[in-house]
Order: sequence, then structure tokens, then C-alpha cells
Amino acid sequence: MCGIVGAIAERNITPILIGGLKRLEYRGYDSAGLAVFTADHELMRIRRPGKVTELEAALRDDGLTGRLGIAHTRWATHGAPTEANAHPHFSHGELAVVHNGIIENHESLRTWLKTQGYVFTSQTDTEVIVHLIHHKLKDNPNIADALKVAVKELHGAYGVAVIYARQPDRIVAARSGSPLVIGFGLGENYLASDQLALRQVTDRFMYLEEGDIAEVRLDGVSVWDVDGETVTRDVIQYHEGAEAADKGAFRHFMLKEIHEQPAVVQRTLESRLGDAQVLVEAFGPQAEELFKRVRNIQIVACGTSYHAGLVARYWLEGLTGIPCQVEVASEFRYRRVAVQPDSLFVTISQSGETADTLAALRNAKPLGYLASLSICNVATSSLVRESDLTLLTQAGPEIGVASTKAFTTQLVALLLLTLALGRSQNRLEEGMEAELVEALRRLPAQLDEALAMDKVVERIAELFAEKHHTLFLGRGAQYPVAMEGALKLKEISYIHAEAYPAGELKHGPLALVDADMPVVTVAPNNELLEKLKSNLQEVRARGGQLIVFADAEAALENGEGTHLIGMPSVHDVLAPILYTIPLQLLSYHVAVLKGTDVDQPRNLAKSVTVE
Ligand code: G6P
Repeated sequence: MCGIVGAIAERNITPILIGGLKRLEYRGYDSAGLAVFTADHELMRIRRPGKVTELEAALRDDGLTGRLGIAHTRWATHGAPTEANAHPHFSHGELAVVHNGIIENHESLRTWLKTQGYVFTSQTDTEVIVHLIHHKLKDNPNIADALKVAVKELHGAYGVAVIYARQPDRIVAARSGSPLVIGFGLGENYLASDQLALRQVTDRFMYLEEGDIAEVRLDGVSVWDVDGETVTRDVIQYHEGAEAADKGAFRHFMLKEIHEQPAVVQRTLESRLGDAQVLVEAFGPQAEELFKRVRNIQIVACGTSYHAGLVARYWLEGLTGIPCQVEVASEFRYRRVAVQPDSLFVTISQSGETADTLAALRNAKPLGYLASLSICNVATSSLVRESDLTLLTQAGPEIGVASTKAFTTQLVALLLLTLALGRSQNRLEEGMEAELVEALRRLPAQLDEALAMDKVVERIAELFAEKHHTLFLGRGAQYPVAMEGALKLKEISYIHAEAYPAGELKHGPLALVDADMPVVTVAPNNELLEKLKSNLQEVRARGGQLIVFADAEAALENGEGTHLIGMPSVHDVLAPILYTIPLQLLSYHVAVLKGTDVDQPRNLAKSVTVE
């Protein structure tokens, strides 16, 4: 959560800081601030509750400029989103710190620092960091040395950037559990918690590793590892188009990202399909040998990525017969798990930085899993770096907090995994792999067809604008699709939405059904359709309004209280991917009608790097 930007240059760096914060705002956006070292040799800051535009306006009014600075956009954990709690935090007016993550021992440090005469002006855990570093400066006058000593006393997760008025030619930074990247410009250098923040100023990046301390100067960068040894980290040239963080002609990032799905699904398939089979090598050089040995699969993820895992269980068990368990990472990480022999540990994550997922992977390592595999959208993320095998989704940066294209590309990647595992062990039904490879090739065009339903879905959205509760139903692999549809609706429209397996309706939720609660159903034509139809009758009989997404073969009809939305036909196995699209569009249009902040819904953040 939160975003960090820093810059040192021979020009005013405030536009770089503001531009970077805007690009990071999807991570947290309840307050923002920056601190710069001015031409008058003063450390000055501006902080504002609210979004980065508030900070930008304040900066414009104030006219603050400087050649060295750090900035932050916050998602509150400790202390409300007020000006006093916004970063940067100061110590004695000469030291400024911005921080992502959580300091778990902040209470004991705060108590101790108070005994040393430090006065606290915020409720944040971050403020202990700045005073602690300040305290260490007494014996370590060099700021990088003081930081090295201070971080040894911090427990928890942090990415921090620090500037010190007495050494105004450098930014120092430390990373542990929260990513930091250094950007290299021409005669100027930068720092951020995500390279996305710096894409307007450079395409050359150095990713800090766990425990690294860095010093960023005009003339270069020094890095020390966790043992204090000087180290070099690779500088990587990043090629992807900088336009990814712009909305283009779309009103919201979410809508843009929904419409990108045919293209990014296509990209996720590229170089991974042979004539009639999945290329196992796409999972890494050891994949082929490892996949032969897999007897069980444990999937761990959070949020939307967890829903992708739930769909994958139907595929893995249904197509390959390999047992599969799926669990949310925040539960898995604190549970004593019984590991099946020859189990593959699979994490799914858009960002690759979600704290619970990362912790689950780290905890799983000593438990005797065969290997770890991550399905992830960020090649440089911690999750990818710490996993044995990876299959990258090629969704490109996803800015809208509500995940869309990341989900469908995860599903594609998980189906590729299913097929690769099934073939390695000769467990697939004859001809199934060729059939599904063919179906996957057709998928981008079918996704386009589903997107063309936008106007129809927009009209249906009007049924929801005044409602307070909704139910989403599905059976089989459509049940997690219903869960994802419900999650999307609650995330961005703030309407209470619950998903149920349609067969469970009669065991409780039917009691809620009345004319005020729309019931959304995903009903592709499959062997469960007849059963699903009976469930729909149960809803109609209670006066419930049905919104049914189904293809022509389902032979369902529009009628009083039943709104049927025709879907393109699709291979049954791929139906969860296609049926996700109208549910995304539905939640989008409902949110627009309700006038909520679609891309940055209240209380949420894109990347949850705290527990
Ligand atoms: C946050 C986001 C969700 C996302 C979840 C997991 O809650 O708002 O959209 O699904 O984190 O994120 P990950 O990056 O691990 O997929």
C-alpha cells in the first residue's frame, strides 16, 4: 500500500514527484505529501488529506521548489488520514522520511524514543522511524550509516526513503518486505516504490533486494546488502509502453482495462501454444521434469486472484484428476497445514507484492512442497523472484483498483498450467489438449463479442442503481465467477452483493429474495443447466428479479421478471473467462450510475503490501 517517489536533479523536482505520485495513487490515496530541500537550504514540506490533486493545488499556491525531494501517497493503517499523519514525517526539522509498510514494534520504540526526548506529532508507526534514525545520527553522522543501524531495530515491513538537510546531496533508502526501485536519468536519479511512478522520466531501473540499503546521488548510486557489504544490482531497461498509465479515450482506467482483455489474453497466449499443445517450457526449464512428479496442488491467493484459483480447481481436478486445494493467503499463512507428498505450491497475484500471499509462500518453503510456482503480472515482483517457477500474465499495468484484465489473464495462465500438468502425466482425455488449444485461440475474438454487449449491460445496470442488496448465482466453475461478479459490484458500487452456489439457495438465501433484490445468474449451457433452471424458478416463484447471462443453446427466455442477456457461445471449459466480462461491465455501469469513484473506490487499495 502507499506509494513513494524521490528525486535528485539539477532542476526543480516537484513535477517529477507529483507526476510519480499520481501514477502510484492506485495504491493508496487518502492523503499525500512531499518534502524538498530548497534553494534557501531549508527542508520544507507540504501535506494534504485527500488525493494527490489536493497536494498539487497546495504546491501550486505555495510555489515550493527544490532539487532534492521525497513524496508519498498514503493508505492509512496507523492513524486517520489527516495532515498530521500524512508523510513525510520529520525529526527536528532536518530529517524527513516516507514509508510504505508497517512497523510492528512501533509502540515499544515510541515509548523508548520519548524517554530520549523525542516529541511525537502523529499517530503513525512511521514517525518512530524518523526519530530513530535521528537518534542514530549522534553516533553515525553519515545518514546512510545511521539508516543501516536504525533498520536493525525495526520489526515489520518497510520501504523507506530519507533525506537529511545536512547532507542534501543524497536520498537514502532501505527495503525490507516492501519494494523499492531506483531509476536512472541523464544527470539525475530517482527512487520509487514501483517503476510505474518513474516511467515518464526514465526506462532504466535497478530493483533493490530484501535488506538492501541504497544511497541515490546525482552522480550515481551505492547499494549495501543486509550484511552491510557493497553490492551491485543489475540495471534493467524496461520496454513496455509508457502509455499504459493513461486512460486514453476511456472515461475510467477500469473501462479501458476491461476493453483491453482480448489483446492481453492474446498476449498471454503468445509463445505458449504449439500447434496443438501447450509449451511446457513456458513455465521454466525445470518445469517438464517437475510437472511429471506433481501429485497434489495447493493454490494460495487473495481477493480476485483467489477467485481465479477457485476456477482453476474445477479445471485441475476435472481435466487432470490431480487433487487441488485453494485457500486465501491470510488464512493459509497462520494455519498448521498438512502437506500432501509431491505437492506443487501455486501462488496467484496480480502485483506479486501482496503481503499475505508473499508470507504464505515464505512460510510454505520449509514445509516440504515439491516446488513453488507463481502466476503473476509483474516480472520484477518479490513473488516472482522468490518462486521456483513462474508463468507471467501479460496484462500490462492494471491501474483500476477493481481487478479485471489481471483476472482473465490469470484464468488463461491457469488453464495453460492445467493442460501442461495433464499432458506431462498423460492424464488428459484423448484430444482434449488440442481441442482446448484451439478454443483458446478463438477466445480473444469471443471476448470482443462479449464486450460488444456493453450497451445492453449498461441498460440492465439501471435495475441496480437504487438497490441495496444483490445475489449472484452460479454452479460448478461458474460459482467462482459469480463470486468475482459480486466482489466487483461491492468494491466499486458499494452495493451489498453475495455469491452463492445456485444449489445452496434453498438452504438460506432464498429467504432474502423479494422484488427488491436482483438475482444475477451466469448460466452457460452445460450439464448443470437444467438444475440451474430449477433454481431460477425458485427465485421467480418468490417474486425475485432475475438477470440471466446465457447463450442461445441454453434455451432460456425473456419474460416477466426475467432479463435474459444473450452471450456468444464458447467452449464449456472456457465459459468462466467469457462470462466474467458482462459481470465486469455490469458493476462498472452500476458504479457510474451511482457516481462512485470507479478507479479508486473508498477504503481500498490496489496493492495490499500490509497484513
Ligand atoms: C487488493 C486489490 C484486489 C486484488 C487483491 C490481491 O485487494 O484491490 O483487486 O485482487 O488485492 O492482489 P494481488 O496483487 O495479489 O492479485
